Amino acid sequence: MATYFVLICPLFVIVIILLVVAYMMRNNNYWKKRGVSYLNPKPLFGNIFSIFIWKSSLHQFLRTIYEENMEPFFGIFFLDQPVLVIKDLTLMKHILVQDFEFFQNRSMGINENHDPIGSKIYFFSQMPYWKKTRKEVSSLYTSSKLKTQFKVLQFNCEQLTDAMKTKITNKGSVFDVKQLTKKYTINVIIAAFFGIKADCFENDQNVFLKVSEGLMNWKAIWHAIQASYMFIMPNYVKSFHISFLDKASTDFFREFTWELINIREKCGRKNNDLIDILLELKHKQNIKNHNTYESDVLAAHVCQVFAAGYESSSTTIALSLFELAKNFKCQKLAREEIVAFLEKYGEITYFNIQYLKYSKNCISETLRKYPTLAFLDRRCTKPYRLPGTNLVLEKGQAVYFSNWGIHNDPRYYPNPSQFDPDRFTEENIRQRPDFSYLPFGHGPRNCSGQRFATLSSVMALANILYNFEIRIPEGGSDTVKFITKGTLLQPVNGIHLEFIQISNNV
Ligand code: HEM
Ligand SMILES: *[C@@H]1O[C@H](CO)[C@@H](O)[C@H](O)[C@H]1NC(C)=O
Ligand SMILES: *[C@@H]1O[C@H](CO)[C@@H](O)[C@H](O)[C@H]1NC(C)=O
Repeated sequence: MATYFVLICPLFVIVIILLVVAYMMRNNNYWKKRGVSYLNPKPLFGNIFSIFIWKSSLHQFLRTIYEENMEPFFGIFFLDQPVLVIKDLTLMKHILVQDFEFFQNRSMGINENHDPIGSKIYFFSQMPYWKKTRKEVSSLYTSSKLKTQFKVLQFNCEQLTDAMKTKITNKGSVFDVKQLTKKYTINVIIAAFFGIKADCFENDQNVFLKVSEGLMNWKAIWHAIQASYMFIMPNYVKSFHISFLDKASTDFFREFTWELINIREKCGRKNNDLIDILLELKHKQNIKNHNTYESDVLAAHVCQVFAAGYESSSTTIALSLFELAKNFKCQKLAREEIVAFLEKYGEITYFNIQYLKYSKNCISETLRKYPTLAFLDRRCTKPYRLPGTNLVLEKGQAVYFSNWGIHNDPRYYPNPSQFDPDRFTEENIRQRPDFSYLPFGHGPRNCSGQRFATLSSVMALANILYNFEIRIPEGGSDTVKFITKGTLLQPVNGIHLEFIQISNNV
């Protein structure tokens, strides 16, 4: 009996392994059968082994294959799942805008049971929920809201530059500016959308700084892994209990949302922000109980604005400072602009910020080199013939784009590693094809916070340049290395720069 077992056991294991491998390879001819050029898949992992062992992030992988393959579109495999990568800008325009009705879903998988708040964030969500919830809060992102939000930016820019001044001893000092721009963007989001003060600069133990560690911190390995697995193995998200929010963050957003609602109800004053909208939804739907489906939708709105709001913006501001430290001529031009501007207008307002053209172009150029959300994804929701081809995409087909690859493609941006804000003068923009610039995506599912993010970044940049000269510290690297985990561009060790206070302005 025992010998029988010794013989049969390994055989059994081998058969199981072979069955699994065969199952995972069942689609390997998918692109070949359709006459689409494709990257040869490896057993089990398809083409994404490097992402699995954290040698590469999804966005780095997509940029690399964008650069290595010359076809307008080509097939790859995420494990056993065929994925289409599109390089051609005209096809992108079709999918993201003209034929959007075929591509309203994102490609990612979400886990409704284990991730009750994360799965209701409309960034991650699918039709028909996506359309309904995006509409619920669309009034938050209008010009009239931006006008009232602007005073929040003015106040917090002062806090930001004050905090930087206290870090400066003697002439100049080196510090990680990303930590401070993160405090700025958290303060700004909390004040502009929730109507309360976050005081990140006063208090390092601030609850929002703590929660942020559970959301967008790719140094937290398990969190970073889960965030990218939602994209690369959407079909397995449920079986492996993968979620975007952990239990602590889920609890926090549930409690925090009701706290905001209760405070607002008691004071009875309208503040023209997200909480007003949530109150209206609460009354309309008669939501009374915590932790119900309906109340989790409200909490997801709060979580979404917070999560989407601070990380990419603070990285963008810090990276723009880094590039201006490296490119001193551009820094000088930007500073001259803000000095002349303040002489003329006295202060920056919602109405005159448009004249800070060069600073705005510095932010645009930063987002070209480093689109902090460095890939775009959609999923086909009904059969779609790719224009100009005979290829019919099936319902459920995942489609990816590398905005990072496009932004660094010398066909559109000669000498792409060179930082040059003048690429964004109106004249130079006109020279480039449509869809060659997509830091905020495009079409009906584009970034909701695009204008808010741009305004808050230009404001911070102008205020910092007015107060400080910025240099690359001695022995500091002049390239940025990004974390190879997670789903956003995140510098490995923050952004360390030397800041020298400019006294003749004070
Ligand atoms: C520099 C800062 C930011 C960058 C680079 C950025 C980039 C992006 C990108 C690339 C997308 C995907 C768009 C697409 O698939 O077409 C996106 C979606 C989104 N962003 Fe941003 N974002 C930034 C800041 C913000 C801010 C400040 C907010 C909110 C206050 C925000 C809210 C959102 C939301 C809600 C979505 C989901 C849109 C949807 O699926 O319908 N973002 N963002
Ligand atoms: C979008 O995805 C969801 C969830 O996977 C699915 O139930 C739905 O049918 C898709 N939407 C459309 C319009 O196909
Ligand atoms: C972004 O989305 C909004 C609708 O949510 C739309 O009005 C706007 O035109 C879109 N912008 C771009 C550049 O696609």
